[in-house]
Amino acid sequence: MSIDVLQRWAGFAVVILALGVVVVPGQAQTLRQEADCRGVLIGSAVRPAQFSELAYGTTLAREFNLIQPEDVMKWSVIRPDRASFDFTAGDAVVAFAAAHQMKVRGHTLVWGRHNPLWLENAHYTPAELSDLLHEHITRVVQHFRGKVFAWDVLNEAFDENGKLRDSIWYDQPGIGLAGKGITYIEQALRWAHAADPDALLFYNDAEGEALNPKSDALYAMVKDFKRRGVPIDGIGMQMHIFDLHPDVSSIAANIARLTALGVQVHITEMDVALPTDRDTGNLRSSEDLAKQADVYREIAAVCLARHGCTAFQTWGFSDKYSWIRSFFGGNKGAALPLDEKYNAKPAYRALKETFANGPCDRLTASKPGTRQP
Ligand code: XIL
Repeated sequence: MSIDVLQRWAGFAVVILALGVVVVPGQAQTLRQEADCRGVLIGSAVRPAQFSELAYGTTLAREFNLIQPEDVMKWSVIRPDRASFDFTAGDAVVAFAAAHQMKVRGHTLVWGRHNPLWLENAHYTPAELSDLLHEHITRVVQHFRGKVFAWDVLNEAFDENGKLRDSIWYDQPGIGLAGKGITYIEQALRWAHAADPDALLFYNDAEGEALNPKSDALYAMVKDFKRRGVPIDGIGMQMHIFDLHPDVSSIAANIARLTALGVQVHITEMDVALPTDRDTGNLRSSEDLAKQADVYREIAAVCLARHGCTAFQTWGFSDKYSWIRSFFGGNKGAALPLDEKYNAKPAYRALKETFANGPCDRLTASKPGTRQP
């Protein structure tokens, strides 16, 4: 081979290396493209204050077809006081999604935590709280009607024993249904359905992913609601994983029994926290990155194996913005598929491989998220 030809080949190789990828025609290149192919939603929680950060916005639009506000549709943001509704940040989430052809999940309308102080400290009567919650659900769901396709109507209403948690909405003092079990959940679902009959309505929780007393209680609730025609469309499994050893077959069995009832399952808040050094933020063991990738891979595979598991969402996408470090006082972190500089971690590659491992149905790809149970 002449020097001239060698130089030309070397130049070609440099171009390919500089691009970072070799584009193979017909092969999906991003997580979003793989998920579109499978007709499944791939989502992330978002902080709209970061949309203007170039790497944040471009990565989000490239890798996901679903977003959910991490905080800005909660009472604490939307209700600065009793008389006002502030939809500014929620509207920014909807606008970003519209600009990038993404769907939006809403989070959350009824939760015993992260409520504004004016609400918690006012000592309202059950009748007043009932009116307040009815008004809140109606105004918020109507405001986002046609823009938010699925709502986490209720969040974390059960404890780990499958008993209802004490909360301002249930029994402290509650909306007038204290002691009547899941009736207050039913009431909230009915109000949400009246405000937007087209929105999918979810009950969202943690620690009920595998078979256990809590997921038994959720299963019984869904079964009862379906039998009586209470509007529930799905269960959100938060999937915050703190110990690297989830019982994957038990989670699979739980997804199977729930979807068999005719509801969808969305994985809503997945992250996989790794032990970190409190002062430096560095990982305690770089081997944990491979273990983390395996956990993401296994949970995604379990979801994709069930027709009724229609969305897989992580709680943020870059380690730059994650609630884990502050929640664990710095002792855990690095929980998301991209690192703090938006570089792919083994977990990102594991997810992409898992989503790629199946048929690409171009018909569903044109309408991501339309895969129904
Ligand atoms: C967390 C957010 O990530 C934090 O930014 C905020 O300070 C507290 O709430 N389960 C949920 C989410 O349903 O709303 C929580 O989000 C994480 C646990």
